[in-house]
Amino acid sequence: MTYANLLIELKDNVAWIRINRPDKLNALNRATLQDLHSAFHSLSLDAKVRVIVLTGCGPKAFVAGADIAEMSGLSAIEARDFSKLGQNLMLSIEQCGKPVIAMINGFALGGGLELAMACAIRIAASTAKLGQPEVNLGLIPGFGGSQRLIRLSGKAVALDLCLSGQPIDAARALSVNLVTRVHSPDVLEEETEKLAMYIASLAPLALRGVLDCIRYGAEASLDVGLDYESQTFGLMFATEDMREGTEAFLQRRPAAFAGK
Ligand code: COA
Repeated sequence: MTYANLLIELKDNVAWIRINRPDKLNALNRATLQDLHSAFHSLSLDAKVRVIVLTGCGPKAFVAGADIAEMSGLSAIEARDFSKLGQNLMLSIEQCGKPVIAMINGFALGGGLELAMACAIRIAASTAKLGQPEVNLGLIPGFGGSQRLIRLSGKAVALDLCLSGQPIDAARALSVNLVTRVHSPDVLEEETEKLAMYIASLAPLALRGVLDCIRYGAEASLDVGLDYESQTFGLMFATEDMREGTEAFLQRRPAAFAGK
């Protein structure tokens, strides 16, 4: 797989996607959104890929937002389509069936934070800055930011970030659950790789079950969410991996999960 705006590498069972426009701080233009969409689609179908890590190239940015130069010339209808293109990408990341880790190596602003929020796990460099600065441009978030921020960090934080447009640092992001792990920049990649490799050694169908339960449950009533959990729990008993995992435990040996 080769893409104009992405570097993709498969290391063991972990696929690394690096957004590669460092001279524009990895800003998301339409071509990059389309590349990401197509890369996530291919990787979601590849059984060798058990975990995906998404990050930005260069020392400064994860993604500094949607591409302002490209956006500035859009008509209202084109802007609506641009927003839908971004929103559909974020949904496809959330629904790709594999854990996606955002490794936030620097600025995650606007569309960059929206992209990170669509990932299952967010790990930030201690130097990262996260925010929704669209109001500074006379805009609002357009790739789902106003909605996912409410769900991850609550209404008060969503209002503060989206109304002030001011970025927060990684420590504050950790305190409002916007990221769940923070590392110093020199060990960020090593620590992210360790976690990704560990998760990639687990049972893929169980990981998918967890992703589905938490995604549905976050939007459903407790009754509906609990019922979905029971159905998914039951389904696990039809997998070879569940037999392997429980037998390996009882035989005091490491489990080898086949994803079946
Ligand atoms: N869209 C398009 N280009 C962008 C961009 C964006 N969102 N963010 C940065 N760039 C470009 C700059 O225009 C510049 O390009 P140039 O060298 O051709 O002029 C290059 O990336 C480097 O950015 P620069 O602003 O010089 O870096 P900096 O270190 O001084 O500032 C930021 C970094 C992130 C504070 C600043 O780039 C910024 O505010 N970016 C926009 C953030 C934003 O509003 N995002 C939401 C968009 S909806």
